[in-house]
Amino acid sequence: MDAGGCGAEVRCYSTEVAGARPLLLFDSGVGGLSVAGAIRALLPQAPLVYVADHAAYPYGTKPAAVIEARVPALLGRLAERFDPALIVIACNTASTIALDAVRSALDLPIVGTVPAIKPAASLSRTRAIGVLGTEATVRQPYVDRLAAAFAAECTMLRHGSAELVDLAEAKLRGEPGNMAAYRRVLAGLLDQPGGKRIDTVVLACTHFPLVEAELAAAAPRPLTFVDGKEGIARRVAWLTRERAWPQSPPEHRALFTGAGAGIDAYRPGFAAFGFAEVRTV
Ligand code: DGL
Repeated sequence: MDAGGCGAEVRCYSTEVAGARPLLLFDSGVGGLSVAGAIRALLPQAPLVYVADHAAYPYGTKPAAVIEARVPALLGRLAERFDPALIVIACNTASTIALDAVRSALDLPIVGTVPAIKPAASLSRTRAIGVLGTEATVRQPYVDRLAAAFAAECTMLRHGSAELVDLAEAKLRGEPGNMAAYRRVLAGLLDQPGGKRIDTVVLACTHFPLVEAELAAAAPRPLTFVDGKEGIARRVAWLTRERAWPQSPPEHRALFTGAGAGIDAYRPGFAAFGFAEVRTV
């Protein structure tokens, strides 16, 4: 398709991205903002394009086959449109299901987000760790492989919570939190047999670091929460180490798939992460 009569679609769209090729961050919703914050701290000059796939939100309650079909196709279209230097799949659900498929489909560096089981296992003193993710993530064979490789000497309990994803979305819309709901989510993990020994919890969904303070306040005892955002940021910095980012402050943009209903409620939350522009794809 020749969008706007300016020749090849890729060329035409890439004029949307003035200057350096951006980093494209992708999630089902607002969770990738936790990763965006860590990337901005390390690479303050790098322009970011953030895509929230709200048309298919939430991912965590969908069958793996749906995610596996959707994510590579959508990222292919977004890569054509924004010509990014690299893509960060800032979503554990999409990464644990579709990372290999995306890497095979696209000829550019793809950084995934997978549960931080390795650091959690090395931090835990009780040798009991919890993995809090989406329902889809906690049942992925990818998580079994991480557990076998890095936490074989730990008890590892899992809990999938769509409610916690919704709570993080609501927080970004500025809606007040509900402590009883956070306590309920934690009980789903800590009240399992063996859960009383857990001292370290992997936040295995990028939405969850956005509500880490609420989880800590709701916890029945001090817990160490671990996620992978700083490691992802270091990986992105390494992969882009030879790029000369523009000197002028970057203009970050956020795009939502779908009709954009309710998008206005998210603007202040995105602005707090440096995204002045929020619109539909
Ligand atoms: N933020 C996503 C993750 O890291 C998924 C949330 C959802 O859409 O269920 O898993």
